Amino acid sequence: EDYEKGGYEHYLRKEIADQPQAVAGTLRGRLDERFATAHLGGIELSARDLRTIRRVKILGCGSAYYSGIVGAELIESLARLPADAEPASEFRYRNPVIDPDTLYLAVSQSGETFDTLAAVHEVQRKGGRVLGVVNVVGSSIARACEGGIYLHAGPEVSVASTKAFNASVVAFALLALHLGRVRDLSPADGKRLITGLERLPDQIATVLEDEEVVRQAAQRFADAPSAFYIGRVRGYPIALEGAQKLKELSYVHAEAYPASELKHGPLALISPEMPTVVIAPDDHLIDKNRSAMEQIKARGGPVVAVGHSPFAGLADETLIVPKNEPELDSVLLGVPLQLLAYHASMLLGRDVDQPRNLAKSVTVE
Ligand code: G6P
Repeated sequence: EDYEKGGYEHYLRKEIADQPQAVAGTLRGRLDERFATAHLGGIELSARDLRTIRRVKILGCGSAYYSGIVGAELIESLARLPADAEPASEFRYRNPVIDPDTLYLAVSQSGETFDTLAAVHEVQRKGGRVLGVVNVVGSSIARACEGGIYLHAGPEVSVASTKAFNASVVAFALLALHLGRVRDLSPADGKRLITGLERLPDQIATVLEDEEVVRQAAQRFADAPSAFYIGRVRGYPIALEGAQKLKELSYVHAEAYPASELKHGPLALISPEMPTVVIAPDDHLIDKNRSAMEQIKARGGPVVAVGHSPFAGLADETLIVPKNEPELDSVLLGVPLQLLAYHASMLLGRDVDQPRNLAKSVTVE
């Protein structure tokens, strides 16, 4: 068991540390610099088939669903195809319209989540086409789908997903690149993304070197009754996943909101006891994120920012990550939030690998 934990005290901490290799595993052999695209051997659809797709719908549960929100945005922005993600558990109960021109994607680390598998069967029963984005080779969802993308992230043992989340995001980036290049994405943009993807493993390793500031920030959350996580557009699913990690690992209540919705309700709860994590990459929305921080500060709320440079006078702590291409920054922005939840959990003495009431894989309804 010690060997499997690679010298770490917990599987979760090891799996956070594994992420450079996990992401490298997802990328291995799939980037084609010459044609500025991604090769995905598990998807046997010709460029002509792929061009008939009119929409993309991503289905998954828990963190897999959140990775799907990131994935849908990547596909929509890079391939210019309308795309969205929905919890697989909800989808199958609402008698959804299944459209033959929609590409359905089922995302799952284990490949055994009951609700996700049931959603796959529901789509197929109505004549839809489903591809898997799955980590465990030969799992039920992988076998049920018509093909797909294996994550090759290595085993994930801890109940809360970390490396599979980011490996899934990277798999969606590969698919977005592939779909984009049979549609309107230019070779120059394809090359830009390939360079960005190749940089990710080393950049994740850099984030993991800077744990001390995260450990300090974690104290705020361990002492708090509740926390907010906010972000805009690409930052919002990272806020959702960050809040999910804090809930699962520390049992501290956390809620994610689009930063733009702050004034429509959550601002009423801001107080010195309630810290807010603001996902604030250096992009075209940075001024909007700064103004959200100002609004929180004005009401005495502690602010922990995650971004590319410090927010002096606005954030109490800034967790700084290296910059990549704007489409790929999400992967890096989420990593300090995994560490934040881990340290909050340690401070509170929780069972980080096996949180109460949760299971790694929910194989029943
Ligand atoms: C459970 C786990 C989560 C996971 C979800 C989906 O709820 O506790 O960590 O994200 O299932 O699992 P899957 O294997 O389908 O990705």
